[in-house]
Amino acid sequence: MQKKRSWAEPYKIKMVEPVFMTSPEDRKRCIEEAGYNTFLLRSKDVYIDLLTDSGTSAMSDRQWSAMMRGDEAYAGSESFYHMEEAIQHYYGYKHIIPTHQGRAAEHLISKIMIKPGDFVPGNMYFTTTRLHQELAGGTFVDVIIDEAHDPESTHPFKGNVDLEKLEHLIVEKGAAKIPYVCIATTVNMAGGQPLSLENLKAVRALTKKYRIKIVHDMTRVAENAYMIQQNEKGYSDKSVAQIVKEICDLTDAATMSAKKDALVNIGGFLAVNDYDIYEEARNLVVVYEGLHTYGGMAGRDMEALAVGITESVDDDHIRARVGQVQYLGNKLLEAGVPIVMPIGTHGIFLNARKFLPHVSQDMFPAQALAAEIYLDSGVRAMERGIVSAGRNKETGEHNYPKLELVRLTIPRRVYTQAHMDVIAESVEEVYQNREDIRGLKMVYEPKYLRFFQAKFEKVV
Ligand code: F0G
Repeated sequence: MQKKRSWAEPYKIKMVEPVFMTSPEDRKRCIEEAGYNTFLLRSKDVYIDLLTDSGTSAMSDRQWSAMMRGDEAYAGSESFYHMEEAIQHYYGYKHIIPTHQGRAAEHLISKIMIKPGDFVPGNMYFTTTRLHQELAGGTFVDVIIDEAHDPESTHPFKGNVDLEKLEHLIVEKGAAKIPYVCIATTVNMAGGQPLSLENLKAVRALTKKYRIKIVHDMTRVAENAYMIQQNEKGYSDKSVAQIVKEICDLTDAATMSAKKDALVNIGGFLAVNDYDIYEEARNLVVVYEGLHTYGGMAGRDMEALAVGITESVDDDHIRARVGQVQYLGNKLLEAGVPIVMPIGTHGIFLNARKFLPHVSQDMFPAQALAAEIYLDSGVRAMERGIVSAGRNKETGEHNYPKLELVRLTIPRRVYTQAHMDVIAESVEEVYQNREDIRGLKMVYEPKYLRFFQAKFEKVV
């Protein structure tokens, strides 16, 4: 690794996919038809797609060639064993259940471990994770440090657990009512913020004392490991792969959306160390996903995942990946655009409260801002605020999160530095014209995970 050089991509481009700029008139029509929800746009109408980093990575030549060796046997596929070996080697978990993506693993572990009336503490919620906990009868409890809810706090590890909050919950509810603590690396909803190993070790010690398990949402674990390498004392000489392993070793089980860190377009898994939980998961996966040696994945996808895991923990890869995100973040900071600090690892999160102080939260400022950026340039971002936060499961009222954000999510290995420049130019232009932006009203609301399909109209 050449520390003094900039973060140039450790690859060259072998195949390209054209993208098209659209006209302002087309974009106006498209966003109106989509009910001001960027999830409802067609991708052909998008110029630069920053909706998500999920399943949108560019695969390497090695991954594509591995796909040709996919073993599509219904049972006992060789590809499953390749994937299992990579997971065991890099992450260290004992038993592996393949699933079609992350939320399927969340479904299985929630069903197996959570009883009605239980409480599940976590370092902030993620939409699908919390919903599966609730569907299993549990109640999610946020035990992240307060700084995570403050977009301007520059705490380097905003993903950390507040140990006092966690212990207070355990004492108040009793350890028997807490099936596990859910720890995400990095914390998506906080702005892609990492937790420190020092904190995770303390969470491990505390949970050991009360005999509570830790389930690790390892969707972006390599990105978290990179931030530990860069910013935590004592880790600058360790490789990302070593730090990833150390994180996993402190936890009992993991859910993985391999569509992010692990560089595949589809796939995931549940990994557990406890044999009894494994046995139940292996049985349940047959009901919901497929046999325990494919769990909803094609053999070729399991091959791509095995290679993707290896590539994802490579120091040069992760340095360029996070370097690109930081490049965009720094451009926006220079222009005075309010973003979540510190710059996260998988995207830039615009602080819509500060961007649009004249739009009240129940007029969906982040939703309106994402639509405005699309209108300006065809860049597709997404809301991470009151719409994503959904409703309180008891009262039916909106949850009012402190963070009202628009996420510009950077797919891995897909866009160039010039694309980052265009994105920054567009956001800066929208920022200059921010006073003209009005709020929205919700005209259609689905029952579950409403942000995906809700529709809005402009308030005039
Ligand atoms: N956990 C985290 C932290 C995630 O970011 C996601 C997905 C999941 C679990 C669920 O995984 O999508 O494979 O079922 N996040 C995507 C996103 C959708 O855009 O942030 P999945």
